[in-house]
Amino acid sequence: MATQYDVVLTGVHKTYPGGAQAVIDFNAEIEHGEFVAMLGPSGCGKTTTLRMIGGLEEVTQGTIEIAGQDVTDLPPSHRDTSMMFQSFALFPHRTVFENVEFSLKMQGRSKAQRAPPVWQMLELVGLAEFAERRPAALSGGQQQRVALARALISRPTVLLLDEPLGALDYNLRQTMMVELKKIQRELGITFIMVTHSQQEALSMADKVIVMSDAIIQQTGTSREIYERPRTKFVAQFIGKNNLFHGVIRSLSGSMVFVESIGKVFFVKVPDELEYDVTQGAEVWFSVRADRMHTGEGTAGMSNQLTGKYITTEFLGSLETDVFEVAPGHFVYLERHRSQPRGFSAGDEVMLAWPSGDGVLLHR
Ligand SMILES: Nc1ncnc2c1ncn2[C@@H]1O[C@H](COP(=O)(O)OP(=O)(O)OP(=O)(O)O)[C@@H](O)[C@H]1O
Ligand SMILES: [Mg+2]
Repeated sequence: MATQYDVVLTGVHKTYPGGAQAVIDFNAEIEHGEFVAMLGPSGCGKTTTLRMIGGLEEVTQGTIEIAGQDVTDLPPSHRDTSMMFQSFALFPHRTVFENVEFSLKMQGRSKAQRAPPVWQMLELVGLAEFAERRPAALSGGQQQRVALARALISRPTVLLLDEPLGALDYNLRQTMMVELKKIQRELGITFIMVTHSQQEALSMADKVIVMSDAIIQQTGTSREIYERPRTKFVAQFIGKNNLFHGVIRSLSGSMVFVESIGKVFFVKVPDELEYDVTQGAEVWFSVRADRMHTGEGTAGMSNQLTGKYITTEFLGSLETDVFEVAPGHFVYLERHRSQPRGFSAGDEVMLAWPSGDGVLLHR
């Protein structure tokens, strides 16, 4: 059987009146039960895309299908989607219970019909004991769960979430990330979440769509995005990558020799590269910071350069050593805290990486 897609966007464009191109040629196939994150900096078109899926914003060009039906021209009420906004706007004068039951009431269900699913949903989000409270008497995280329960009560095929954790402080966000994922698993509902947080996207989503300037930069699993950034933008935006700009000096099978900062490096050409690799072409390539080596073993590696050790950045169990390899060009080496660092400020250090770890990027 062909894969059942819950949401398919084909060649979707959005140009706002006035000419702002908010979304350009957006293509995505989202499977049933998938947790998808749209990740990108402010203004890149995330909310616009989400609103087009929900029918709150008109599509300028292209089509949107939900559960096999073309919904491009249908109003929100005719789509099997539910949206949870960033400012979750609970009804302040209604209790938690009344907030959650709202859409069932709108559907004209009787009080007796409404109560069981509402209780079930309140149990699911862990708020049954707060059913009679009003939103103002709840913590931020509890209010957020009310909003989630309210959006889920109609059992939509697809739940659209715009920065659902944006209003929460760090600790609460960590907890809610786990809870949101758990609830999504239990219900098996497709979630499409917008975020500008790399951590949220990479830790919760099955599939991440990285956007910038109205276009999709890369679609893939967290691991794919992290380990094999496709474009210069993704390499800079996700994780710690070392970027090099240079000129192709010669070609050899799936490898090229790139001259950069006065040296020549052996760089891999990814299979799916969308442009022809030619001698003399200007290119960018990246090397992940955790693929960078110093000390023993570097002598046998095909890419080497020296850098002056500047400082070390600390982040939990990982540390990043920073080296200046050319004026103003810094190289990052990420290592576990337990690995000793054998140099001190000002030292000239040999840096190296194996041939397959430098990868050519799309433009
Ligand atoms: N109603 C509108 N009319 C005109 N331009 C708009 C409108 N809404 C959004 N835009 C523009 O479209 C672009 C994309 O906006 P969008 O809200 O989708 O970004 P976003 O990725 O959600 O950003 P953020 O992370 O800041 O929420 C922006 O340049 C924005 O200024
Ligand atoms: Mg937005």
